[in-house]
Amino acid sequence: ALQVRVGPSVLAGDLSNLAFETHRVLRAGADYVHLDMFDGNWIQGAFTFGPMVVKALRDHEPRAYFDVHLCVTRPEQYLEEMARAGVSRVTFHFEAVTDPREAAEHAHGLGLDVGLALAPETAVDTTVLNVAELFDVVLVMTVPPGFGGQAFMPEMLPKLKRLREVFPKKALEVDGGVTPLTAALAASAGANEAVAGSSVFRSRNVRRAIRELRRGLEK
Ligand code: DX5
Ligand code: ZN
Repeated sequence: ALQVRVGPSVLAGDLSNLAFETHRVLRAGADYVHLDMFDGNWIQGAFTFGPMVVKALRDHEPRAYFDVHLCVTRPEQYLEEMARAGVSRVTFHFEAVTDPREAAEHAHGLGLDVGLALAPETAVDTTVLNVAELFDVVLVMTVPPGFGGQAFMPEMLPKLKRLREVFPKKALEVDGGVTPLTAALAASAGANEAVAGSSVFRSRNVRRAIRELRRGLEK
């Protein structure tokens, strides 16, 4: 059965205090932690942190599920480092990877779960559907990747619907502008996992924010 899961994105938290932010959302009921790795290149000028920081963070949370969203050029070059850093799942962009099939197999061979991310401009066509089969999750971006606090794009919902028709049992994740309300829209279109930055970290009550997101997904 498809599990409903909420993964706060620490991009919206205090990036100078990742261990604290990670611990805080896990203690408040997060199912996993979403870590946005920007290399300053794929998204021009946006740089967050790399594998060494993720590895350092892993030492603080030995059991947490770390979901790394690689917003980087040629993500395949980081797979081994991701495995060494103790990442649970690595998600890279269809638009950025040279050979999605080969990269998925490589990641699986390293013991990683692997996700395929689709930027808003990428349609769910037969090429995407054919490669998606190899992935543990498909991430439908509901904002242009780059920063937090943008508005959810409802025009992405048909992509989720199509993916859910073709893959009744695959994890489908949304990222960008997710609130309890938009999580419910995404869930009706087939999503079962939601990443949320602003709606968790800007909330005065993080536990309640996560609970409400989960309720949205369960609708
Ligand atoms: C955007 C990132 C998201 C971001 C989401 O490029 O992939 O994970 O943190 O932030 P919100 O939830 O504020 O849209
Ligand atoms: Zn992300």
